Amino acid sequence: MPHMAKHGFVVALLLILLAGGTEAFRICAFNAQRLTSAKMAKKPVMDTLVQILARCDIMVLQEVVDSSQKTVSLLLNSSRNYSFLNSSLLGRSTYKEKYVYIYRSDKTQILNSYQYNDTGDLFAREPFVAQFALPSKILPSVVLVPLHTAPKDVEKELNALYDVFLDVSQRWQIEDVILLGDFNADCASLTKKRLNSLLLRTKAGFHWVISDGEDTTVRASTNCTYDRIVVHGQGCQTLLRAAAPFNFPRSFELTEKEALSISDHYPVEIELSQAAQAIQPLSLAMLLLLSLSLFQLGQRA
Ligand SMILES: *[C@@H]1O[C@H](CO)[C@@H](O)[C@H](O)[C@H]1NC(C)=O
Ligand SMILES: *[C@@H]1O[C@H](CO)[C@@H](O)[C@H](O)[C@H]1NC(C)=O
Ligand SMILES: *[C@@H]1O[C@H](CO)[C@@H](O)[C@H](O)[C@H]1NC(C)=O
Ligand SMILES: *[C@@H]1O[C@H](CO)[C@@H](O)[C@H](O)[C@H]1NC(C)=O
Ligand SMILES: *[C@@H]1O[C@H](CO)[C@@H](O)[C@H](O)[C@H]1NC(C)=O
Repeated sequence: MPHMAKHGFVVALLLILLAGGTEAFRICAFNAQRLTSAKMAKKPVMDTLVQILARCDIMVLQEVVDSSQKTVSLLLNSSRNYSFLNSSLLGRSTYKEKYVYIYRSDKTQILNSYQYNDTGDLFAREPFVAQFALPSKILPSVVLVPLHTAPKDVEKELNALYDVFLDVSQRWQIEDVILLGDFNADCASLTKKRLNSLLLRTKAGFHWVISDGEDTTVRASTNCTYDRIVVHGQGCQTLLRAAAPFNFPRSFELTEKEALSISDHYPVEIELSQAAQAIQPLSLAMLLLLSLSLFQLGQRA
């Protein structure tokens, strides 16, 4: 092979090793916009959702509008190795939706879950909290706290979300918590000033890993960071590798119209390294080795 190709190969190897070497564990949150079994039964919707789900080890679906299990059954029928856990239907009026966790049962299990007791009726759809086992020595488990806020109560609900965090961390004596979902935390629903005065912004230890300014909306005419992931705890911090919205229309080459038939939101995703502990010494040794081979390649060329 020509030496440029060899170089490319070595550099690619190097990058893989520097990036962590092992596969990451990916957690996703997706507002699937009024997801019913009728919507799911449409082939383009199903195919796209299956592809989106395949990227995720755990997916938190929001806006599942289904009093039966049919919507999820349809999705799981085409997605092997995934199991699910749903909340009950939540909402103050006749309009109700549920949170559904869909997770790779060969890579993680649910250790615990509960519906937050929303005594003050602060939430339209109070979080359905779940603890998952992780394939990591540094972080054997992580707690997910999903929230889909009501657009007119964003500030109130996001401040109440801090109380949910306290409730969970006391109940299970844990620090490593990921709060995630369609927070509607931008544009007309929440001004920059109010965003920056939220408890989850002013209290120490919370990291908003989907940055302000990231577009999580499908429409070309909108640019809002509605969907968020907020990370708390040292274990999560150590393993955090990347977080970003997933621009599925671009990746799957869909037109705006086609994409909107799935949802007006992008999923948001966070990647955790699985074996951060073992990586560093190994990477260093490999780095030396590869530098050596790069040097030799250079000599030959
Ligand atoms: C799932 O697949 C099985 C076997 O192909 C089929 O019998 C069942 O009806 C499917 N379930 C749904 C909800 O479509
Ligand atoms: C999941 O959804 C089904 C159907 O809506 C419901 O019967 C069940 O109680 C839900 N699970 C939980 C934990 O609420
Ligand atoms: C499902 O899990 C089994 C057991 O871990 C594994 O061998 C298989 O490759 C998985 N299938 C898919 C489609 O990932
Ligand atoms: C929720 O909290 C209220 C007030 O503290 C209590 O009366 C009620 O039993 C609780 N419900 C559950 C399901 O824990
Ligand atoms: C959205 O707005 C931000 C600035 O707030 C900008 O950096 C970003 O490029 C915009 N994204 C799109 C897709 O227009």
